[in-house]
Amino acid sequence: MTVLQFNERVYEAIIRRRSIRRYKKEEVDPALQGKILKFKSKIVPLEPENQFDYTIHRVKDRPEGLVEILGLYGKIADCPHFILPLLRGQKHVHEDLGFRMQQLVIYLTELGIATCYIGSAHREEKVREMFDLGEDERITAFILFGYPDERLEARQFEEHIWRNVGARNKKPLEQILFKDTFGNPFPLEELEPRHKKVFEAARNTPSAVNTQPWRFIFKDGKVVYLAVQRGLQYHKKLGAAVGEKYKFCLTDAGIVMGNFMLASRVYGFQGNWELIADEGERKKISSLLALPSNFYLVASSSF
Ligand SMILES: Cc1cc2nc3c(=O)[nH]c(=O)nc-3n(C[C@H](O)[C@H](O)[C@H](O)COP(=O)(O)O)c2cc1C
Repeated sequence: MTVLQFNERVYEAIIRRRSIRRYKKEEVDPALQGKILKFKSKIVPLEPENQFDYTIHRVKDRPEGLVEILGLYGKIADCPHFILPLLRGQKHVHEDLGFRMQQLVIYLTELGIATCYIGSAHREEKVREMFDLGEDERITAFILFGYPDERLEARQFEEHIWRNVGARNKKPLEQILFKDTFGNPFPLEELEPRHKKVFEAARNTPSAVNTQPWRFIFKDGKVVYLAVQRGLQYHKKLGAAVGEKYKFCLTDAGIVMGNFMLASRVYGFQGNWELIADEGERKKISSLLALPSNFYLVASSSF
């Protein structure tokens, strides 16, 4: 099995990536599409028991009814391809999907290909039917991809969308990184430059409706805990039913763990994310970290 390469190119792609919604009509060369498919074997799992897979589709060959789901009326223009990522398995499905999809998104960015996630967790049944997928195949988002439209009008449109969703407004580290307990901002001057680089990568992560639900508690200079905010209003903006909103913040948790893992490898850290599965343990650690009740403890990693 080939392994992921962790180098400055990866870090640079994490920082450079933006969601793109205006594309050139031009399709990506089939040989390059083959490379994208081969990348599968390099993707690091979060839960090794789960199986991750994805297929590449042409937007023009899409099944009937997908236009609305992909937001192809108005918001997204001329995108030639989409990826359907899916996971077979039961364990931490949304976190694992996010974690693996993000490695793919960063690889595409490295190749100079633009992407945009399209959340579908709230329409999973419909998507499963459309693609004739099995009950055990889980989906939380599509990944649109192609070459960005560089024309002035398209760039101006992107700027307009970015302003609308506040995509440029990523929360500063002071708001998302705490020292030892929740709410205690980490004095940035105390942060080692290598650690800072990794947290900067995390800060630059895409999230559904740019909610950036993640908070990091860096404890005793050794362990990082990840918690996500619950009760965010995804359903209003995405049309998702109230019960569905957790799927998005858990997907976002997986995505941010993906960026964190990639960046930490670039800077020589070897820690792995361990998901917290036991409710008793979650309660105990949450109390130790003084986590407010609207935050959900997801995982920890040595750092
Ligand atoms: C799980 C997920 C679902 C998303 N769904 C959509 C979507 O349906 N439509 C859309 O235009 N953007 C979607 N996005 C993109 C976000 O709006 C975008 O990541 C956020 O605004 C931050 O901007 P950036 O990706 O340029 O950093 C999604 C992102 C994620 C992570």
